[in-house]
Order: sequence, then C-alpha cells, then structure tokens
Amino acid sequence: MSDRDPVSPETRRQRMKVGFIGTGRIGGNLARLLAAGGHEVLLSATNPAGPQQLADELGGSARAMPTLDAIAAAEVMVIAVWWEAFGEIAQQYGTALQGRIIIDPSNPITEQNGEVVALTIPDGLTSPQYQLRRLGSVRSVRTFGDRVADALLTDGQRGQRDGQRTDMRYWSDDPEAAALVIPLIRDAGFIPVDGGGLAESKNAGDA
Ligand SMILES: NC(=O)c1ccc[n+]([C@@H]2O[C@H](COP(=O)([O-])OP(=O)(O)OC[C@H]3O[C@@H](n4cnc5c(N)ncnc54)[C@H](OP(=O)(O)O)[C@@H]3O)[C@@H](O)[C@H]2O)c1
Repeated sequence: MSDRDPVSPETRRQRMKVGFIGTGRIGGNLARLLAAGGHEVLLSATNPAGPQQLADELGGSARAMPTLDAIAAAEVMVIAVWWEAFGEIAQQYGTALQGRIIIDPSNPITEQNGEVVALTIPDGLTSPQYQLRRLGSVRSVRTFGDRVADALLTDGQRGQRDGQRTDMRYWSDDPEAAALVIPLIRDAGFIPVDGGGLAESKNAGDA
C-alpha cells in the first residue's frame, strides 16, 4: 500500500452499490473494474440493451435497471455520459439526484465530423464546477476522467492484480463525498491522490 493512500484496509473491504448512468466506453470499463473490485454495479443508459449486455457479461451482483431505480438504490452514482448530455441528465433525473454523491468523469469535448473538438466552459468555471451547476445540489467528486477508456481498464486491472498501481487524482469540495469515493478508486486498482477542490480540477490532457 502506498504511503499516499489514506484509506484503511477495513474501509476498502466495504461493498458498495455503485449506480451508472451510461455504460459506454468509460462507464462500461469502470463498471468492469468496480465489479471485479467487489462492488455491486447498477447499470443504466438510454437504451436498456447496453446495460443488460454488460450485466450479463459481469454476472454476479451486476444488474441492469431503469436509471431512476439505480439512483434510488445506489450510494454513489457515476454519470458517464458525454459532457453536453449533463444538461439532459439534469432535466431527466435532476430531482432524483439531489443530495446524492456523484462521480463525474466527463471532459469538455465533443465530436464533430468524426473529430474530437474541445468545448469552452462558460464563466471561467472548471468542467466539474460547470457540471455541478447544471445538476444542482449533488455532491460531486471529479475522477476517472484522466485517461482513455482502454487505458483505464488495463491500468486498473494491472493494479487489481497486484501489479504496479498508477495514480488516480480526485477533486471535490465535499470531503465526506470524497471519503466514500476514495475506496472505490483503490478497489478499481489505482492509488487515490487528492487533487484538491473542484476549482483545481484538471481535464484529460491537462498538465
Ligand atoms: N471514452 C473515453 O476514452 C473517455 C475518457 C475519459 C473521459 N471520458 C468521458 O466519459 C464520458 C462518457 O464518454 P464515453 O466515451 O464513455 O461515451 P459513450 O461510449 O458514448 O457512452 C455514453 C453512454 O451514455 C449513455 N447516455 C447518453 N445520454 C444518456 C441519457 N440521457 N440517459 C442515460 N444514459 C445516457 C449512453 O447510453 P445509450 O447508448 O443507450 O444512449 C451510453 O451508455 C464523457 O463525458 C467523456 O468525456 C471518456
């Protein structure tokens, strides 16, 4: 265990219910890591076929369900949808998400004509600050967005198999929410590293 890892082994063994809105590249691979790390993953997306396929792949306690059911049951919700879709998520699920702990891995990018294009974040906010403003009073922890989905899976699996663990920074303005997410970062195979508050957060590709 790293000296920088602040979470006790006792905390790490606690099994949590982690809900997902979005089971695409990042959501899917994070669900794979957390299921392998001993957590119960509750999977939802727009089209129920994706979550169901993933639940079938993962087996065990992994379950596909409607998003509102996942929000109601989960202790932490991962919102793994495209950056611009957070507005839609706020409209559809904003009320249900109030007061809930969320993980935000989103980066301010979009695709135009097959090209990845950076988006400008309004009002000088960082990405998770802006997403938090859109979602309302959720308890946000920004993490798991710093590498491409394939690297997230391979780095996490290497760490889980007692290979070399890589750092995974997290940012939050809510220490209690961060304390709940820290064991998930470790169980996903990484070394949790406190990056500070949401105002200090970095996106993929930032230094
Ligand atoms: N891909 C990467 O390498 C990577 C790396 C770092 C961070 N990220 C960030 O992770 C986020 C997700 O990216 P991704 O590549 O995983 O996207 P993706 O593969 O396109 O998956 C998006 C997921 O979001 C679901 N979704 C979209 N709108 C929804 C809604 N209104 N309600 C419920 N589910 C909805 C989709 O469900 P349906 O298919 O059923 O519509 C799909 O499961 C983005 O913000 C991105 O910036 C991605």
